[in-house]
Amino acid sequence: MSESNLKNMNDLVSLSKRRGFIFQSSEIYGGIGSCWDYGPLGVELKNNIKESWWKTMTYRDDIVGLDASILMHPSVWKASGHVDEFTDPLIDCKKCKMRFREDKVDTAKPCPNCGERDSFTESREFNLMFKTKMGPVEDASADVYLRPETAQGIFVNFLNVQSTMRKKIPFGIAQIGKVFRNEITPGNFIFRTREFEQMEMQFFVAPDTQKDFFEKWKEIRWNWHVGNGLRESRMKWHDHPGTELAHYADIAVDVYYEFPIGWDEIEGIHSRTDFDLGRHQKFSGKKLEYVDQAAGKKYIPYVVETSAGCDRSLLALMCDAYRIENEGDKKNERVVMKFNYKIAPIKVAILPLMKKPELDNVARKILNDIQKNYKTEYDVAGSIGKRYRRQDEIGTPFCVTIDYDTLEDKSVTVRNRDTMEQERISIDRLDQYLKDKLQF
Ligand code: GAP
Repeated sequence: MSESNLKNMNDLVSLSKRRGFIFQSSEIYGGIGSCWDYGPLGVELKNNIKESWWKTMTYRDDIVGLDASILMHPSVWKASGHVDEFTDPLIDCKKCKMRFREDKVDTAKPCPNCGERDSFTESREFNLMFKTKMGPVEDASADVYLRPETAQGIFVNFLNVQSTMRKKIPFGIAQIGKVFRNEITPGNFIFRTREFEQMEMQFFVAPDTQKDFFEKWKEIRWNWHVGNGLRESRMKWHDHPGTELAHYADIAVDVYYEFPIGWDEIEGIHSRTDFDLGRHQKFSGKKLEYVDQAAGKKYIPYVVETSAGCDRSLLALMCDAYRIENEGDKKNERVVMKFNYKIAPIKVAILPLMKKPELDNVARKILNDIQKNYKTEYDVAGSIGKRYRRQDEIGTPFCVTIDYDTLEDKSVTVRNRDTMEQERISIDRLDQYLKDKLQF
């Protein structure tokens, strides 16, 4: 049997739509640029990724969770540097008015959109934050921003969390939430969008200890991606040279994944020094120091941040899981999403062999038992072969088939997604069988 990987992102876009993972936002109106909706399978997959992250990052006694609001006091973004620094250099084509990121086009060449020569304007800095108005009055004092990273919600709550949870440094605060960036060149499906979810953790440490924690977090974060099923052969580190560092970081590294569009970032790990807390202390006038009673000193903590994109992780996991077996061999070709069982959106499919009440009765009883513990699909339509292929395409690890023998021997056939092997299992052992196989 031969096996090949995803070669073209369009194949994944089409599977995502066909099988209910991801739809274009507002599709019936022609869609809206770079916004995507997660369908019934996409939302399961995304929730499983978030749960895996939440467990790894907060089921430990030195990290606690937070869910801060998206809208924050506008001074937060002045203090954080986003108002002045969170910009991309932008140029316009004077003829077709198309906008480009200056670093993404060769200005010596014609406009990639309309072909006009010497048509570009001077470059200017374009702020990536979305601005909106708060309250009924439309003057400048009502301006607020949709947060472009979740991190600031954590920084401004540092003292609230530290004091209420009586945390001693080193400790971390973790958060998952939506963020918004008015990207100039979004695209490549859900790789770069204007609304996405981040899974971020800020680890507060004593000054001059950040390098060791940075190394420790690199290892934990790498292993998280591998534990979700990403193949290490398709991952690498990308160090940020000094010129690439964000305005807040003194060391930074990205986890890169080999997408069909090339290598790119799925997560950033940054040593943010005491930049953020220091700036918030200055701008708010509130002391954000930590009192280290054991050492008898006060200081503004340093921060090591891990910042993963939920949608990017999901895209990497979908690209990685996508396999074509026996490509080109019409009879034996199949597309299988070889998701790690932990993140597979549907764990079990219940398939009565035929649409007959006697099979349906037994199958529904089994369904009711199994779906108490696992996300389960029930499918009676079409030939059993077609139904297996459909479950392969959505990555369901186990299919349970109920046939006429089931009525006699009280057993079912369990088919494994990866090996396609089938086992006969008695109904009263099915629960334990799935428990053993779906351990994570
Ligand atoms: N708080 C640090 C921070 O926001 P970042 O490198 O700008 O760092 C972190 O973003 C992660 O968020 C990236 O590694 C990526 O996974 C995700 N991300 C960033 N911009 C994105 C976009 N436009 N669309 C989807 N995901 C994005």
